[in-house]
Amino acid sequence: MRSFAGRDILSLKDFERNEFYHLFGIADRLEPIARERRNTDLLADKTLVTAFYQPSTRTRLAHEAAMHRLGGAVTGFADAKMTRAGDFYQESIKDTVHMLEYYGDVLVMRHFDQGAPQEAAHWTSIPVINAGDGWGEHPTQVLTDLYTVHKEKGTIDGLTFIAIGDHRMRTMHSLGYALSQFDAEMVILAPEEMSPTKDFLAELDEKGTTWRIAEHIDDVIAEADVIYMEPVVQPDYTQSRQEKQEDYGLTPPNYQITAEVMRRAKGDSIILHSLPRMDELLPEVDQLKHARYWQEAYNGVVMRMALLASVLGAVE
Ligand code: CP
Repeated sequence: MRSFAGRDILSLKDFERNEFYHLFGIADRLEPIARERRNTDLLADKTLVTAFYQPSTRTRLAHEAAMHRLGGAVTGFADAKMTRAGDFYQESIKDTVHMLEYYGDVLVMRHFDQGAPQEAAHWTSIPVINAGDGWGEHPTQVLTDLYTVHKEKGTIDGLTFIAIGDHRMRTMHSLGYALSQFDAEMVILAPEEMSPTKDFLAELDEKGTTWRIAEHIDDVIAEADVIYMEPVVQPDYTQSRQEKQEDYGLTPPNYQITAEVMRRAKGDSIILHSLPRMDELLPEVDQLKHARYWQEAYNGVVMRMALLASVLGAVE
């Protein structure tokens, strides 16, 4: 297995099965620190730099919380408009990250341009972690999600994932790539204008991911082991920021999970949603035995602890 020390985490395209399980094992080892709400000194001599060119609640703060739990320092920006990259100067990624490498030891970047973290990795000597790039990928989220499935179901092999929502979304891309390493099926349910592209589906075929398209939630809900959700009412991920508009619309029932829909699901199926949610996942579902999205959010800190400790060479 390739070492994680010094490695960029840009995509799940090239992740191998044993690398998933390696990270799951590190996460299991570090999890008690988060559960017991302790801060340790594993990364006491390291600094995390966050560079967020798009809004985030979970991804940025989970990385920062993870770094605090491991005793490291944190610096960075949550709003590029308050930096020279977002004002009159429009400072380039090349110049920005070349400088940021003097401020810390690992860079976590979210950007509205697909491929921006890859470009950053080219111009900086410290490891770069992709925290979401346009519609591209969101590798740390899907590592969190599969870790959650592994913990909750005891396996990823043999499972059917019903992936509901906007399939232009970066999580859906990372999920499709990741499932190529497991004996699992991805069932795609999306509005036509949010369908996966032919190129992406061809890539999945090339990588060996088993997938099929479903037309209606009623046709597939009873097969689901994992219900993997994204909104269909959401902003344009190629923009740095979008305010909520008056006429944002409602989620069509076919892409909505309700208590009534879940009455037809397997008793042991689980629902994941990386959040934030709109009306595709009603609060009434929070009370059901299937809901695992808060566990997923907690695991988001644990997985980022595993990633930071690994790329900074503190664990093997
Ligand atoms: N799941 C996720 O990426 O959330 P944020 O946009 O809040 O980081």
